[in-house]
Amino acid sequence: MVTRRDLMFGAAAFAGSAGAGFLSVGRPVAAREVIAEPIAHGVKSIAFDLAERPTSLPCFNGRTLPLWTFELATTFPIVRVKLGERLDTVFRNNLPREGEVASIHWHGLRIPNTQDGVPYMTQQPIPPGGEGRYSFVPPDTGSFFFHTHCNSVEHFGRGLMGTLIVEGDEITPADGEIVLMMKDWRIGPDGKFLPFSTDEGAAKSGTAGTVRSVNGATSPVISVPSAANVRIRFYNLDPMRISEIGFEDAQAAIIALDGNGVPPMPLESWRLGTAMRVDILLRTAAPGGSIKLYDYFSAEPFVLAEFKSEGPPKRTDAFVPTPLKVMPFAKLDEANAQLIPFEFSATPTGAAVAAIGAGPGIEIGPLCLAKRTFWAINKQAWPGRDHRDLGPPLAVLKAGQSYIFELNNTTPRAHPIHIHGHTFEVLNSSKRDLPRFRCDTILLIPNERIQVGLVAGEPGKWMFHCHILEHQEAGMMGYIEVV
Ligand code: C2O
Ligand code: CU
Repeated sequence: MVTRRDLMFGAAAFAGSAGAGFLSVGRPVAAREVIAEPIAHGVKSIAFDLAERPTSLPCFNGRTLPLWTFELATTFPIVRVKLGERLDTVFRNNLPREGEVASIHWHGLRIPNTQDGVPYMTQQPIPPGGEGRYSFVPPDTGSFFFHTHCNSVEHFGRGLMGTLIVEGDEITPADGEIVLMMKDWRIGPDGKFLPFSTDEGAAKSGTAGTVRSVNGATSPVISVPSAANVRIRFYNLDPMRISEIGFEDAQAAIIALDGNGVPPMPLESWRLGTAMRVDILLRTAAPGGSIKLYDYFSAEPFVLAEFKSEGPPKRTDAFVPTPLKVMPFAKLDEANAQLIPFEFSATPTGAAVAAIGAGPGIEIGPLCLAKRTFWAINKQAWPGRDHRDLGPPLAVLKAGQSYIFELNNTTPRAHPIHIHGHTFEVLNSSKRDLPRFRCDTILLIPNERIQVGLVAGEPGKWMFHCHILEHQEAGMMGYIEVV
């Protein structure tokens, strides 16, 4: 008998070798859109103390590693606010290295430019011993996250990140919710961190970790209520890994991408580059049963997590996922939108063009500049410029006007392309049949051209870069200016 699993594995093998044809979802259910309204007011205050904390996670096998984290209690903090609430954050940079500046970027949030957390561009970064502050009302519901924006390869490598969840999008509350944060670690046989970057990796798909984890454990078994509708917020927080997730045999639907509600699409598999998120509604197994979540993109299908059903069944009804509420985005004026082409390429020589440093991999200087560049946007490699003298933007947009970005990947590598402070509306691809959806990070597969719509948001300078962090730091980064 051919099971769904066999079919899935076959499809994954094809996708892996051909580097194409991911996206396996059913047709979305047509539904009326319900707009999310603020559900709370007031201020949620949190304090972060960025520091080195020797930590032992289950995936380290009892060993302790010098992680860098935002706070004492948890490795990856989960911050929740309700739509309408203000988030007020004070942070102290206690990172244990001279010159290790920090700022916090709120990935995916359409907040004022001054709160965007990009060193030298939207703020002066905070030196060790210093204190910084952010205060904003997140304008959209969804699954977001936060991270620093300088020396990010090492910061991610050491675990310095957390999730930010803005609640208020559910029409029908789920029976439970689970946040899954996927991230690999680069640990050597001696139980110590390996160099976070290598030239080999930076010039190709990135330097891979050696130990896989979800929420700090390898293939964790998670208890869930039986026969229930559980919401899973899945985050790809690895610095480089591309994953394609799916269940072996389950009723599940994609309900949001990068935090943006979509008409529920039956999930077969979904490919995520680094920084991308997908919200899934899963009907859990009957009492005593379990369901496995796989990554089909790795050489062998890999069990990311297993959901073990406990307690009496919650539901007997058919699985009909309700769409999430959505945000009132400005409507894209496609007919009058200006087309702007962007080319994502290797540097002209395909080699390190600014090899100043002697050591391998990317070493970040005091101005967040890598010493080598391998990648470029519109032939311009970012570290060719000093952050204090930014050089010209990749494009100047007028606030409120519609644009179509034509993103052309001329390389044999995949690139998850991210824009700050905005969301893209995916229009079409030269290689795949994509549904229409909103995202802040779009995965370009090798040699793919994708058109995305965008209505220019708040004035300011907004970063636009590949989120494979070694690509970002080695040149595939630029900015858009909204005036
Ligand atoms: Cu997570 Cu500049 O981005
Ligand atoms: Cu890239």
